[in-house]
Amino acid sequence: MKENIQEIGFFDIVKERRSVRIFDQETPFDHQSVQKCLEAAILAPNSSNMQLWEFYRIPETSALKNPISRLCMNQKAATTARELVVVVTRRDKWKSRAAANLSYIRETYKNSPGKKQKQAEAYYGNLVPKLYSKYPLWSITKQVIAWVMSLKRPMVREVTESDVRVSVHKSAALAAMTFMYAMKAEGYDTCPMEGFDSVRVKKLLNLPKDSEINMIIGCGKGLPEGVYGKRFRLPNEEVIFKV
Ligand SMILES: Cc1cc2nc3c(=O)[nH]c(=O)nc-3n(C[C@H](O)[C@H](O)[C@H](O)COP(=O)(O)O)c2cc1C
Repeated sequence: MKENIQEIGFFDIVKERRSVRIFDQETPFDHQSVQKCLEAAILAPNSSNMQLWEFYRIPETSALKNPISRLCMNQKAATTARELVVVVTRRDKWKSRAAANLSYIRETYKNSPGKKQKQAEAYYGNLVPKLYSKYPLWSITKQVIAWVMSLKRPMVREVTESDVRVSVHKSAALAAMTFMYAMKAEGYDTCPMEGFDSVRVKKLLNLPKDSEINMIIGCGKGLPEGVYGKRFRLPNEEVIFKV
């Protein structure tokens, strides 16, 4: 019975979440909820647990709120947001994040080193550097190696630099989604945005060249007129297949 109650709660949140473009300016907004929901978001699954993401909170009181809203092409979802969250990918941080995983694993298994530790050492010490290192022609070399290996057995094909980039964005987007559901559970609304000037946003946030903006999320209490129409989705049969 308890399971049922939890299930209803989750599905209500999924159904009720909408991208809301106009946020209420009057009622108090609890900025602590953003912090709480981001702390939930980082529990999202992410590739190799490398957590190659960062989240920049820009509350309405921040000196950056208006400039960033402008860089979101002045979308109302940004200008009326009580807080903006910029989701950033940090592919460039792979070395320190792999090292953090390695030292966690060493600490965990320090009294009982064995197969698991060896596997993790090989994963973060060998495989991850192979995938994430950047050298001239490395992308094409990896692709050829993967292709040769695939002749004998199933092989992961997504090994190029652009594949790594996609992978890092996938993980960031999953965290962003977790954040938006958590905000809905807190009684707040959100709007994910990809309509922004990424070059200028990066400059404003002082982000390095190799980082990327995954999305910017407007947060607040949505107004009814902020929901632009009834929700439309394709018929289930067009997108869900049982094979
Ligand atoms: C990656 C991504 C980028 C988006 N960018 C924008 C945006 O720049 N501006 C906007 O108003 N909505 C944006 N949206 C919201 C979508 O338009 C919205 O999710 C879609 O129309 C479905 O509506 P719903 O979220 O209310 O179910 C974006 C959504 C996603 C997932």
